[in-house]
Amino acid sequence: MPIRADLPPEPEFAAPLEAARPSPDTLRLLALRRSTPVKALAEPGPSAEDLDAMLRLAMRVPDHRKLEPWRVLIIEGDARLKLGQILAAARKLRDPDVTDEKLAEEMQLPLRAPVILCVISSPVHDAKKTPVWEQQLSSGALCQNLLIASQAMGWAGVWITEDAAFDSHVHAALGMHGHEQVAGFIYLGTAKEQPTERQRPDVSAKATRWTG
Ligand SMILES: Cc1cc2nc3c(=O)[nH]c(=O)nc-3n(C[C@H](O)[C@H](O)[C@H](O)COP(=O)(O)O)c2cc1C
Repeated sequence: MPIRADLPPEPEFAAPLEAARPSPDTLRLLALRRSTPVKALAEPGPSAEDLDAMLRLAMRVPDHRKLEPWRVLIIEGDARLKLGQILAAARKLRDPDVTDEKLAEEMQLPLRAPVILCVISSPVHDAKKTPVWEQQLSSGALCQNLLIASQAMGWAGVWITEDAAFDSHVHAALGMHGHEQVAGFIYLGTAKEQPTERQRPDVSAKATRWTG
């Protein structure tokens, strides 16, 4: 059941903040967090108020030199139909022999969830100061913050890219500039079925102690 995000007011610039805050709820959420497969998403989706809150939280992201090298397109309602047409047209250009059936499927893709947040990496070209790679990482962190914030509010979601994220025709139709990339489409809604645990990494193999 989604909850209304009862957020503290935005702190004033230079206001004192907590360096750490023990939060069992946050630890539990992270320990059991799971994306919901996009096929298992359904109505309802987050309200405009929910989206404002989660975007505000998500944009409190590490950002070297405060470049804000990202932006977000909120795609909901009938805009999803327009995106579907764009995806189908892009698919036809990528694959002229595609069947009408596949094109119809492509058109339906954005309807899999009530809300899609398209996170765009929009690096500022001062590469000699903050490398583009760092700016792109900040966009990835923003995507993850969106997943965590939305799930903490009670919404199910998943970060996907699919072919659309890498298609220049889709980029142009979304109004993206040449230097921008899609970091992810965050599909948000309500889970029709609860997800199950997936295979997880062996932490001791992936994180080793470097001793010089
Ligand atoms: C950049 C990025 C792109 C992804 N694209 C897709 C995708 O197109 N389709 C998909 O099924 N999962 C995609 N995933 C994986 C899911 O978001 C998710 O992480 C995965 O299903 C594992 O589930 P978990 O988040 O619960 O660990 C992507 C993940 C990342 C980080």
